[in-house]
Amino acid sequence: MAKPKRVGLIGAGAIGTVLAEAIQRELVVCDELVICDTDLQRAYNLKSKLHFPVKIVDNIDNLIAQKPKVIIEAASQQAITEYFNKLLAANTDIIVMSTGALLNLGTGSPRVYFPPGAIGGLDALSSATLAGIDEVTLTTHKPPKALGKNNTEELIVYEGYAKEAAQRFPREMNVAATLALTVKPTKVKVQIVSNPNIKQNTHKINIKWHYGEMNLQFANDPHPDNPHTSALAAWSAINLLKSLLKRDQ
Ligand SMILES: NC(=O)c1ccc[n+]([C@@H]2O[C@H](COP(=O)([O-])OP(=O)(O)OC[C@H]3O[C@@H](n4cnc5c(N)ncnc54)[C@H](O)[C@@H]3O)[C@@H](O)[C@H]2O)c1
Repeated sequence: MAKPKRVGLIGAGAIGTVLAEAIQRELVVCDELVICDTDLQRAYNLKSKLHFPVKIVDNIDNLIAQKPKVIIEAASQQAITEYFNKLLAANTDIIVMSTGALLNLGTGSPRVYFPPGAIGGLDALSSATLAGIDEVTLTTHKPPKALGKNNTEELIVYEGYAKEAAQRFPREMNVAATLALTVKPTKVKVQIVSNPNIKQNTHKINIKWHYGEMNLQFANDPHPDNPHTSALAAWSAINLLKSLLKRDQ
């Protein structure tokens, strides 16, 4: 008999909710969703909106004990850092959303995946990385609210490199971390602008490599429940989950 396709979810917040609703709409087919959130009420609130098998567990050990085929971390850099070794030992695929943490934890395990998140085009960047990349720059504009600011004129809030940007803005600069993980060992230059004249989170990425230049641009609606998060990030996790679950159908 085929094993049940169980999915584990760490974090019942903005991304976790979109993901659970995608399962509800059968965009992703799984038999049971197991939710782990340190704020149990958030987990129960999410469960109350869902009409398919959902189990709530109160800690990571109980989540792993359910033997999910894939576990998605959609909580925080702190959470994935704390749980990483247990998850690696659990013999399951792991999707990490808080990519800033992976800059320290590493992506050496073949079972650790990170989705493109709020950007795309990582396939082209990976290819160019093999040939040799000269320079990568990321310019991110976000509405002040998304950066916890209240400036009324454009303000550069950070200039530096991706690793530091992801540490200084752990909830907002996963894009910088995702780029850095993709083009390493090349460093990613980052500028973050708090821009009161925009409603969307915009990312402009310029890559100069051995055989040309790439310019990628994204303008993402913020998630309605969490302005720090772009809606595309959740859909990117859904897409990756779908392909991992399909693999041995
Ligand atoms: N990769 C990307 O492009 C990308 C884009 C946006 C957000 N993110 C990241 O994804 C993560 C989730 O984002 P979100 O918008 O859903 O956040 P959110 O704040 O809306 O939800 C996070 C949930 O995780 C729970 N949580 C926190 N610590 C926990 C722990 N140790 N164990 C279990 N649950 C815990 C919280 O109670 C909350 O319910 C964040 O780290 C965010 O920065 C990544």
